Amino acid sequence: METDAASRIPRHIAIVMDGNGRWAERRHLPRAIGHREGQKAVRAAVEYCRRRGVEALTLFAFSSENWKRPEGEVGALMQLFLKALDREVGELHANGVRIEFVGDLSAFALELSSRMHAAMERTRENSALRLNVAVNYGGRWDIANAARSLAQAAVRGEIAAEAIDESLFAQHACLAGQPPVDLFIRTGGELRVSNFLLWQIAYAELHFTDALWPDVDADVLDAALAEYARRERRYGLTSAQLRVTG
Ligand code: FPP
Repeated sequence: METDAASRIPRHIAIVMDGNGRWAERRHLPRAIGHREGQKAVRAAVEYCRRRGVEALTLFAFSSENWKRPEGEVGALMQLFLKALDREVGELHANGVRIEFVGDLSAFALELSSRMHAAMERTRENSALRLNVAVNYGGRWDIANAARSLAQAAVRGEIAAEAIDESLFAQHACLAGQPPVDLFIRTGGELRVSNFLLWQIAYAELHFTDALWPDVDADVLDAALAEYARRERRYGLTSAQLRVTG
């Protein structure tokens, strides 16, 4: 029989996939190879989450700041995204995965953004796992966007300014309607959130691992989930209160 701790599976996991570049550099390979290996780890993580019954997985694939990387590396990442869309969407769809790209898609070349929209449309009805891929995303951008959208609704007279509360705000931010992020993982050894999902991780448990993203496999994810299962989530209450309310 499963123990209580073992049965505590996070409903929503968010991952900062860091360390592709270092993985390649340590092998004297171009950084783009590290990203290519990273794609294999993405495939394994999606499969892992499906198998463990996680409802949503959100991956930070390209931040708003990543445009500042050397032109060659940005180009290689764009090519990788294009190829991944061509190669992976069919299988993800067959496995019941619903894909959503979150971020400012308007900055991407039409060839790429139209394929992103097509993948979202094609997989819209799937329910085995929600896979959110954050591209040209920043947490502050997300919050500013939600604030702008609410202000515009207020100006149009659709909502009263007084009606804006946390719940309405959340409906205008990315990942609206999805389970709250329970577990935030960052690979690659840095102890930072780096402008990823600031609003959405308010109560997430944070897990940092030194593993570089291309090395992340089921064992690394098992360790993260085991640590999550041991944590006590209090949401501002005391342990004693939690024992009473169950
Ligand atoms: C960070 O590692 C990783 C990225 C900026 C890109 C993430 C992209 C992938 C994993 C490729 C495929 C993704 C999808 C969704 C198809 P880094 O380059 O910052 O590593 P470093 O810190 O070692 O330099």
